[in-house]
Amino acid sequence: MSKRLYIQTVGCQMNVLDSELAVADLLQAGYELVDSPRRADTILFNTCSVRQHAEDKIYSALGRLKHVKDQHPHKIIGVLGCMAQKDQQEIFRRAPHVDLVLGPGQLRRLPELLAQIAAGRGPQLEVSLDRNAGHLEVIQQSFQKHNPVRTPDARSTPYQAMVRIVFGCDKFCTYCIVPSVRGPEQSRPADEIEQEVRQLADQGCLEVTLLGQTVDSYQDRTGKRTVRLAELLERLDNVQGLRRIKFLTSHPRHITADLIQAVRDLPKVSPYFHVPAQSGSDEILKRMRRGYTARAYREMFSQIRETLPDAAVTSDFIVGFCGETEEDYRQTVELVRWARFKNSFIFKYSPRPKTKAAELYEDDVPDEVKRLRNNELLAIQNQISLDDNQPLAGRTVEILVEGPSKVGRKQNTTPQLVGRTRDDRIVVFDGPEHLIGQILEVRIEKIDAFTLFGVQL
Ligand code: SAH
Ligand code: SF4
Ligand code: F3S
Repeated sequence: MSKRLYIQTVGCQMNVLDSELAVADLLQAGYELVDSPRRADTILFNTCSVRQHAEDKIYSALGRLKHVKDQHPHKIIGVLGCMAQKDQQEIFRRAPHVDLVLGPGQLRRLPELLAQIAAGRGPQLEVSLDRNAGHLEVIQQSFQKHNPVRTPDARSTPYQAMVRIVFGCDKFCTYCIVPSVRGPEQSRPADEIEQEVRQLADQGCLEVTLLGQTVDSYQDRTGKRTVRLAELLERLDNVQGLRRIKFLTSHPRHITADLIQAVRDLPKVSPYFHVPAQSGSDEILKRMRRGYTARAYREMFSQIRETLPDAAVTSDFIVGFCGETEEDYRQTVELVRWARFKNSFIFKYSPRPKTKAAELYEDDVPDEVKRLRNNELLAIQNQISLDDNQPLAGRTVEILVEGPSKVGRKQNTTPQLVGRTRDDRIVVFDGPEHLIGQILEVRIEKIDAFTLFGVQL
């Protein structure tokens, strides 16, 4: 059997990482990666359920593959990730040509299940237990903590890697599907993480991004003392060869003074916090069950600013959540104007089945109003991003060169490269490709809201 694999990934960085892990396992099992579904024998979708729109796109893509499967019945079509865990059998019902449904907590079984399907054993489904299916430990075990070490060819770049430190989420924000599809919060032992990061650094990796839905609630209780994120960062800061450490996503409640100080004092740790506020209204935050008030968020934010005046702080917001009045929304606008985030992701509320919000509250903000609020808030944020990038013009910054820029590829002139500053700002500059993977200085000549344009010094 030929083993040409195509994988399409949507969703957050957890999914990007899971796809890398899947690819690593499958390369090991003799597969080769191809860049189009047409050339592949095995077509995988790593899916997201966080908003309805993300699911709709996957179901349409699956629909488009029906005739491909009719013509080539031996091609294997698999659905991995959060939508597999959420919809389970429903996926076979809506797309009967799918061969495999595999939840994110069962990723380890991918090679084996593909082999079974190829051997003619028919469609396969493996998912983890529901969050209310029994004892916590049993549910925890059903979400396997899968972490094979990836060779550089399974990662999108040899110089950067994501490392999961917290699995799942226990926050149960009322709008959010993640705790039910990703399972209980579980931190990996610090020793294991440190060992993985050392291995990555030995392979030439310069930057690691530590991942968790609430990465700052990290706690390893396996040793005599509990190890929290600040201490883990300190340990990783000592890893030889490694140059940069990032971590996301932070939950406002777990940003502590010692964590902010660690970010300030550890030379390899990026001065960058992605710490979503979601709303600026206390009433909405309460309904979202975020566990903080707008004032507490501001205090946390001010603490970051006092200790690290130049740190980049970014946020997420949901507009049009159930019961959001014009006044609630104005409070969100006020928070955005006050905090001057480097960047914010803004989403229209999308009700998710079986979440508390979908059960308890009516999705009563008309779509048109959600859209207007989304656009307005985005415009306000973009203006702030643009204004706050202005002072960077003329300055020299240190960047890690990540790869060719997309613009450069289109123009087909001097190669354009893209890199990032320590505080996660994107820098585009002209330069030869052998600079990829280097840390170097560029002078910023021009800026826009999202990008700095520089010249190599
Ligand atoms: N763990 C992170 C983010 C998880 S999902 C956190 O706590 O912030 C990424 C973002 O998607 C969230 O921050 C939120 O802004 C958005 N989101 C989650 N559920 C949503 C829903 N039902 N509708 C719209 N946006 C949603
Ligand atoms: Fe979802 Fe809230 Fe967990 Fe983030 S903290 S993943 S928004 S439940
Ligand atoms: Fe989506 Fe799952 Fe991430 S629902 S946002 S891919 S954890």
